[in-house]
Amino acid sequence: MTMLKQFSAVVLGLGNIGYRYDKQGGDRITTHAKAFSMHSGFELVAGVDTSPEACADFHEAYQLPTYTNLERLFSEQQVDVIALAVPTCEHFSFFQKAMAFRPKAILCEKPIASNSQQAQAMLSQAQHESVFLALNYIRPYEPATAAMIERIRQHAFGVIQKGCVRYVKGLANNASHYINLLLHLWGLPDAVELISAGKPGLEDPEPDFVLRWGENRIYFLALDDHYYSVSEFELWGTAGAVYYRNMGREIVYADVAENSAFSGYKALQLQHTEATDLMRYQWYSADYLFKQLVSQVPDYRSAEMACETLIVVEKILAQLQETL
Ligand SMILES: NC(=O)c1ccc[n+]([C@@H]2O[C@H](COP(=O)([O-])OP(=O)(O)OC[C@H]3O[C@@H](n4cnc5c(N)ncnc54)[C@H](O)[C@@H]3O)[C@@H](O)[C@H]2O)c1
Repeated sequence: MTMLKQFSAVVLGLGNIGYRYDKQGGDRITTHAKAFSMHSGFELVAGVDTSPEACADFHEAYQLPTYTNLERLFSEQQVDVIALAVPTCEHFSFFQKAMAFRPKAILCEKPIASNSQQAQAMLSQAQHESVFLALNYIRPYEPATAAMIERIRQHAFGVIQKGCVRYVKGLANNASHYINLLLHLWGLPDAVELISAGKPGLEDPEPDFVLRWGENRIYFLALDDHYYSVSEFELWGTAGAVYYRNMGREIVYADVAENSAFSGYKALQLQHTEATDLMRYQWYSADYLFKQLVSQVPDYRSAEMACETLIVVEKILAQLQETL
């Protein structure tokens, strides 16, 4: 059965996540432009970017109109959905510009804004004006990752004792993906503890730090992406373990069994490995947005959690400031 296209969509910011990542071709769906063009609930109608080169490139690929500002777009057409994919420092001002045209929804890139005051103001305004605001922390929308989150929440691995996240390229840009994922599991942490400040002089710092929920500590370790990229975590529970590997493209589950080499001892035993569909993450994000749009009561939880994620990031930054 073919689903009727229901919502017109534009991408504001035709850079990496807006349009460019998918220029590599193949089955991947890693941009807003490709996701809206592939999902039957949306019709991609235009692209907006201040750069004429970015507009020309997008036009060549999609044969759709482009605009160098939102005002010109909205003088010509009404649009249901705006993907906000400009640099983070521009999110707040472009959110307000977009809100002036009363779209049905805004899908905002992460981090939601430059600071938590702006983030909270965006959430409040969206709720007050009944414009659905969703945040593009991609992982919880991907089905295998969502199932993993649910299994951990249901204590399939017992009580989590400890965990470890390894990340590169910035606290706000990349570690925040995992802070956000852990908030899905346990809400705001009880404590944030800085371990070490990391390389000096970075625009987006790369500290090692711990998030603590009760006695459960999750260690975040920053690695240098000069050598290779890494984005992964492990959680060890009382009844098993989860390994989220290879940028999140596979999940390894382990349970507890008798140790075959040493009687009387128990060991972690790899149970199975599951491939995720992370290279089509943006389709799932669009699908989440679509389902929210057709539901009677859209859920602002992804935006609320993005605000909370930023609050945790700011707590780490405040501790970093104290070390200077
Ligand atoms: N969800 C994810 O996993 C993910 C991945 C990558 C980037 N991001 C986020 O997406 C956002 C964009 O990142 P990017 O890597 O695509 O950046 P980018 O620099 O590649 O692209 C940004 C685009 O916005 C355009 N732009 C800048 N100012 C503008 C303005 N005032 N009006 C219209 N267009 C403007 C630029 O010309 C550029 O084409 C950031 O917030 C980033 O953190 C999220």
